[in-house]
Amino acid sequence: MKSETFAVRVKSVSWEAQGILSYDLRPFAGRELPPFTAGAHVDLLLPGGLVRSYSLVNPQVERHRYVIAVNRDGASRGGSRFIHESVRPGDTLTISAPRNNFPLAEEAEHSLLIAGGIGITPLWCMIQRLQALGRSWELYYCTRTRQGAAFLEPLQALGPRVNMDLHFNFDQEPGGRMLDIAAVVASAPAHAHLYCCGPLPMLEAFERATASRAPARVHTEYFSAREAPSVAGGFTVVLARSGVEFEVPKGKTILDTLLDNGIDAPYSCLEGVCGTCEARVLEGTPDHRDLVLSKEEKESNSSMMICCSGSKTGRLVLDL
Ligand code: FES
Repeated sequence: MKSETFAVRVKSVSWEAQGILSYDLRPFAGRELPPFTAGAHVDLLLPGGLVRSYSLVNPQVERHRYVIAVNRDGASRGGSRFIHESVRPGDTLTISAPRNNFPLAEEAEHSLLIAGGIGITPLWCMIQRLQALGRSWELYYCTRTRQGAAFLEPLQALGPRVNMDLHFNFDQEPGGRMLDIAAVVASAPAHAHLYCCGPLPMLEAFERATASRAPARVHTEYFSAREAPSVAGGFTVVLARSGVEFEVPKGKTILDTLLDNGIDAPYSCLEGVCGTCEARVLEGTPDHRDLVLSKEEKESNSSMMICCSGSKTGRLVLDL
């Protein structure tokens, strides 16, 4: 079972930067769209069973539209290429309700945000929220070139304000170099909330740089899996609500096993990044492989993502 979905109309497609288009999605029949908060994403259900997650970039107070931005990924497995080449104004798309695994701490005295490439999307939404709240924030925005930087104009249009600070880093332009993430993080006050969204090496550098900070003040969003799913099998999964149990065989995830046995479990990304397949753990110890749960949440072993995580114990009882 895919997560609950509904149809939206593509009102317009806009060029945002080299290789990046934005899509303005509207509800049918003048309805309001489900509310969302900064950092949220929606899943697009594409032909051939492809599901891709995209952050919402418009202000969270808007209920009449969702805006997403799609980077045409050179290594696209079909998602971004299909959207760029085939989705046009007037088309109907099927999407999920918004889900937020990367929420903004609105009460923070100061927020430091680091974006790499298309990783600007959730952060741009957060910035609009921080501006609306009059909060202090600072953005480090890294792209290879200025031409590849989406939302540059609206960011610059925020103009000089006392509560914000913009730093652009175009590493492949003359004199450019990679951002020193460790130095940027070290410059942030201890009470600051820190956010990073971008390519894997950037996120790994950010995690190293923030290792000694309070985990509750460190926030990351990954676009794709970092670890391979657990397919070692060899354990029993028990569905507490019905009492049925299945052996998870080698080569299969828990979700594979449930679907193979006709169990209608919710899922979307299948990569441990969207949170749709989360299940409460009543007994046993998961082998966590996802990028949704925080370190503390993983250590508590109270829930797990069944699309990618396995079991360290011979028996796992789930609240399903
Ligand atoms: S389906 Fe996305 S985290 Fe499992």
